[in-house]
Parts: sequence; structure tokens; C-alpha cells
Amino acid sequence: MSCALPAFVASSAAEPAPPFAVLMELTHRCPLRCPYCSNPVALDSASAELDTTTWKRVLDEAADVGALQVHFSGGEPCVRKDLEELVAHATEIGLYSNLITSAVLLDQPRLERLQRAGLQHVQISLQDSEAAGADRVGGFKGGHAKKLEVARAVVAQGLALTINAVLHRHNIDRVNEVIDLAMKLGAGRIEIANVQYYGWALANRAALMPSREQLLAMDAAVRARLPELAGRIVVDYVVPDYYARRPKSCMGGWARRFMNVTPRGRVLPCHAAETIPGMKFETVHDRSLSDIWRDGPAFTRYRGTDWMPEPCQSCDHKEEDWGGCRCQALALAGSADATDPVCELSPAHTDVAVLRDRDAAALGTEWTYRGL
Ligand code: SF4
Ligand code: FES
Repeated sequence: MSCALPAFVASSAAEPAPPFAVLMELTHRCPLRCPYCSNPVALDSASAELDTTTWKRVLDEAADVGALQVHFSGGEPCVRKDLEELVAHATEIGLYSNLITSAVLLDQPRLERLQRAGLQHVQISLQDSEAAGADRVGGFKGGHAKKLEVARAVVAQGLALTINAVLHRHNIDRVNEVIDLAMKLGAGRIEIANVQYYGWALANRAALMPSREQLLAMDAAVRARLPELAGRIVVDYVVPDYYARRPKSCMGGWARRFMNVTPRGRVLPCHAAETIPGMKFETVHDRSLSDIWRDGPAFTRYRGTDWMPEPCQSCDHKEEDWGGCRCQALALAGSADATDPVCELSPAHTDVAVLRDRDAAALGTEWTYRGL
């Protein structure tokens, strides 16, 4: 997020504080095929997507539940011909609109239409600092050049720009060049986003995991540049999960700040929640976002701290990281109820290092491109 998070109003178990933002995955369609995509491996088809009228109603409900921002995401949200109409509707009801895009389907006239509709922020993903590597990862020839052209147009139009640079074994050594490129493009913010292993990325972990040496070199390079970058570009950077000793506060805590709506209208506490077996997800056809946020079974399942096992339950950090990531606990410890094994206090923490080192050593592993 590009703006500071607001102070949250006091809440009770019955009436949780409102979400800060709703992420609307308008579609899973995308011209790019990144092997680290966080979309589910079983993607929603175009025919399953919510129509314009329903998305507008969902926007109304996002405003009703008290969200301040809407992130139009995907897949690639620009494949939706109604994007301008949806942005205009969000503007009309007072929501701040952010477009999370690969940019390859955008051009200046469409950017101008989106800005007239009220779009305020654009986040563009970069696959690398140079075209050959970027186009290979995205599986889309000419994509990198197009992204640079659109990023320049975003800045020229006075829209706020974030560059989301996803790092992995094949490009992590060029982190300095990626930062330089974001600066040159005039971005106000860069996310140095080491791959998080969900969805397609989890399936391709052995093809993407960097080595410890790569990680240490990247970390040193970023930290050395932070003083020089201060005041010039906002840098979002965290140590990647599999090399960390403490887990991230995933989604800012389960059902505390965000809601996700999938292309077919399932309402989720996070983008990967559908991987958790036995969890009941409601859809926008069942109940309003307010009702789902308040007491939907998926939202109340891990909200707060009551659900936590030891060692989280008696840990001083439990209201900082909220026990880490439920989907990662499932993927790495076999249960979403477990302490996130990224935490060094988790009994499964050493297993993460074993998996990481095994995958980092699997040089030559080919990735599988994302595809419908
Ligand atoms: Fe966070 Fe739980 Fe680890 Fe404490 S024990 S740092 S709450 S994951
Ligand atoms: Fe689901 Fe972290 S991705 S809780």
C-alpha cells in the first residue's frame, strides 16, 4: 500500500474494525504466464467471472463495510472492458482506486480514461531489469519494453507509481539494477518482493529458490542503499520467508485489514485461503461483505489470538505478527492451525531450512508457466 495505514478504531469480537482495503480480482485471465503467480493453480475461467453490475454492487458493499481503498487486480484487470466503469463507480462512492497491473495491455489513451474515471495509483510489476530475462519469466515477448513505456506514461500523467519487482534465483543478483530502473522511471515506491511461495510459486519453488549466498548479497546491497534512497523513493523490503527467523504479519493479521474477492465472487481473508481444506467460503451471492466480514466462518476462524497454539499463545509478538501466515503453515507444517514454521520458535522451523536448501540446490529445474 502506498499510503500510511490509518489508526484502527476499537473493535469487539462481534463488531470487528472495518477492513482497510478490498482486493478485487476481476479476472484470472492474463497475457503473462509468470511461474511465481500467486493466483491459485486452478484458475477461474472467463465465463465464471462476475459481471459489471455485480462488481458495482460489491464496490458499494466495500464502501459500506468501511474500506478506504479498492485494489483492482487479477490476473490482469485490464482484460476487463468495464475497468473504467468500475473505477468511475469506486470514485463516485469515495473509494481510493489502485490498479495492480502487468501494464502490457495498457496504453496512454486508456490510462487517460482511467485517470478521468478517478484512478489514483498504479502498481506495475517488473520481472527483471533487462528485457531478455523479464520476457522469459513472463512468457511474453516485448512485455518488458511495454511496461517501461506505460510506467513513463503513468508518471507523466501525474499518477502515483509503485514498481513491484519480484526477485528469485534468476534475477536476484540484479537487485541494484532493478532499483536503478525504478528510480529512472520516476516511481514513488518500490516493492522489493522476494517470491512468496503460494499458488504457482509453490509449485515452482525448486526452480525459483535463491541460494543463501544470493540472498545475503541481495540483502547487503539493499541495506547499503537505503540511506541514499531515503526521501527519494519509498522502499518496501522484508527478508524472504524461507530465510527469515520471524514470520511476516501476513495480510496484517487474518481478517484484520483486508478482504479478497475472487473472479467468481468468493470472499476470502487472503488470496491463498482456498488452499485450506475444510474451510467454508461464502460468495458475494450469499451475503453482503459486511456480514461476511463480521461473522463469516472463514473470517472468524483465525481472527485475533484465541485460535493460536503454543508457542504463539504465550509469545510477546502474537499481536505483532498474528502468528504469521496460515496458508504457509498449511504448506510447510501440514496444518493451517499450526505456528507458521518460518518462526524459529516453531517445532517445524528446521524443516523449512531443509526444504529451502534442497530447492536452492536444485539448479537446472525448469519451471512450469502459469496457464488456464
Ligand atoms: Fe509470532 Fe507465534 Fe513465532 Fe511468537 S511464536 S514470533 S507469535 S509466530
Ligand atoms: Fe493466506 Fe498468508 S497467504 S494467511
